[in-house]
Amino acid sequence: MLINSKELLINARREGKAIGHFNVFNYESAKGVISAINGKKKPSFVAITETTIRYAGLGVITSIVKEIAKEIETDFVMHLDHGKNPELIKECIEAGFTSVMIDGSAFHFEENVDITKKVIALARPKEVSIEAELGHVGRVGEIMSKGYFSKPSRALEFVELTEVDSLAVAVGTIHGLVTEMNIDYNRLKEISSKVKVPLVIHGGTGLTTKDIYKLISNGVSKINIDTSLRIAFMRGLKQNITEADPRGALTYATAEVKTVTEKLIEKFEKGAKGDE
Ligand code: G3H
Ligand code: ZN
Repeated sequence: MLINSKELLINARREGKAIGHFNVFNYESAKGVISAINGKKKPSFVAITETTIRYAGLGVITSIVKEIAKEIETDFVMHLDHGKNPELIKECIEAGFTSVMIDGSAFHFEENVDITKKVIALARPKEVSIEAELGHVGRVGEIMSKGYFSKPSRALEFVELTEVDSLAVAVGTIHGLVTEMNIDYNRLKEISSKVKVPLVIHGGTGLTTKDIYKLISNGVSKINIDTSLRIAFMRGLKQNITEADPRGALTYATAEVKTVTEKLIEKFEKGAKGDE
């Protein structure tokens, strides 16, 4: 069943665990991620980006996810990742998303508050959960500085003004394939002592196991993973290419996505305990 993420994230924060957010982009990646969630019996986020919606079509990708959901017993959240356009967010809510992110991180504080409130007005009546971002989590190749990191007092102000359900924070993680991240744990700790809504980490690919445990023990309740799943998919595909039937290689790609998702779910579930 599709669920929203409110209770899931609140409970994760209380229990010192994180909920996995896994981006899917086609049938096979959705199948791999959802099979892992079901096998581990751990409700998680199955996330779709605007780029995937442009690639596959909103109706097609949501139908794939919803159809696979019918075959399983574990609940999950169907989430829009990095939504930037309120019109598209409205369409996603109508298409059955149970959680949406409004990414106003490119805006100044006041504009970010305004666009977040606009999306909350669309989502709240439908019981759709809302994630926003304050500060800016960059991408590999982007020139970043601590100036883009989330400021603890501003984070508190942002949550009070918007009443958002969860907040993505910029504390040093980076989107994409990175080998080293310099995470500002003191800043994270300060944000999590002030802000009581669940905190979200973007740019999960490249986090060490130690980072994962430390992030969770410092108040993170959701970790977003995209690039590692796409890499896993391509590994499965490339290693099993044959001339005749693409379904063989695609089955391996699905299995690789499933394995990577399962391993991450195990770490997220161990959570703060792993940091002891
Ligand atoms: O929103 C998606 C995530 O932040 C994924 O980041 O590609 O580094 O795993 P990643
Ligand atoms: Zn992200």
